[in-house]
Amino acid sequence: MAKRYRVAVLPGDGIGPEVTSEAVETLRLIGEIRGFALDFTNYPFGADHYMKTKETFPASALEELRGQDAILLGAIGDPRLPVGMLERAIISGIRFGLDLYVNLRPIKLFAADLCPLKGKTPEHIDMMVVRENTEDVYAGIGGFLKKGTPDEVAVQEMIFTRKGVERVIRYALELARSRGKARKLTLVDKANAVGAMDLWTRAFEEVGREYPDIARDHAYIDAACMWMVKNPESFDTIVVSNMFGDILTDLGAAIQGGMGIAASGNIHPGRVSMFEPIHGSAPKHAGKNVASPIGSILAAQMLLAYLGEGDGAALVEDSVAELFASGKLRSAGTDSGVGTREQGELVRDLIRQRSVSPK
Ligand code: IPM
Ligand code: MG
Repeated sequence: MAKRYRVAVLPGDGIGPEVTSEAVETLRLIGEIRGFALDFTNYPFGADHYMKTKETFPASALEELRGQDAILLGAIGDPRLPVGMLERAIISGIRFGLDLYVNLRPIKLFAADLCPLKGKTPEHIDMMVVRENTEDVYAGIGGFLKKGTPDEVAVQEMIFTRKGVERVIRYALELARSRGKARKLTLVDKANAVGAMDLWTRAFEEVGREYPDIARDHAYIDAACMWMVKNPESFDTIVVSNMFGDILTDLGAAIQGGMGIAASGNIHPGRVSMFEPIHGSAPKHAGKNVASPIGSILAAQMLLAYLGEGDGAALVEDSVAELFASGKLRSAGTDSGVGTREQGELVRDLIRQRSVSPK
């Protein structure tokens, strides 16, 4: 019997639905080619759903998601609603609710033209960022005192736990090993100013000793930003706390061709995990067929790899790489001149060609 995978799809807001639909079509095609079935379940959560029902993300939905094999998310966020309300309820709700402690963000340049840095080619930019995804200032430990008065105090705690830090470092060490490239893991932190980050320094040292084949490197977050622009080739695998990782990976997205191209996986190894492009809902571009679906298609590629469909994942990634390397698509921005649907079709044409005559 053919394998079946249950995939929850949350297209979300803004450009989310249009890019997600290209990713879903691409997943269907890979299923046909590789001989597995995908049962998609759509969830409507996002701004329109909230406006109609006053529901952001019910606990029952989280329970349903636990029964899936993977989740594909489009984008969440809408200017009609209070800043961060839906993002915290839905994105953080799923990351925390399912304990998806790894936010895996590949930074890979497919064609030199895509890179805003002078003289950098695909051989210079190929790294993996492992962003911790369940702690830090995102943990929600904070609040206000005397809110709205001149004496107001606002606090948000930067929480790190030994277990939380250790498990993500271990994941990153395993990844540096399985990538088999430079076999180097760089810890990015701010331990010189944030004393509590000494916990990262010690855990990195102690767990790292169990991996004598992986070279340990270190950079403060400010310097890491500088190196990522100056010498991106010096990075192989990076492990970083939640908020610094959030910031560093937008910079990473920029050097690989922009927000339109970058993808991520919110992962708890062995459990249902969630895949999403790293861009937001970009309301001003919604419904115009101008947003790049490549980030979402590459999120689908990561989803396939996670499900163990490595050959299908490689078909997607190689086709996207060819699309850019051949010059058929010159940008992942909204100015590419190729529509959202047309980009999706181009990727699927290349997938079909590769699947009949493997290169
Ligand atoms: C990301 C986003 C989210 C984050 C926002 C939307 C809450 O920027 O996935 O990088 O900060 O994690
Ligand atoms: Mg971000």
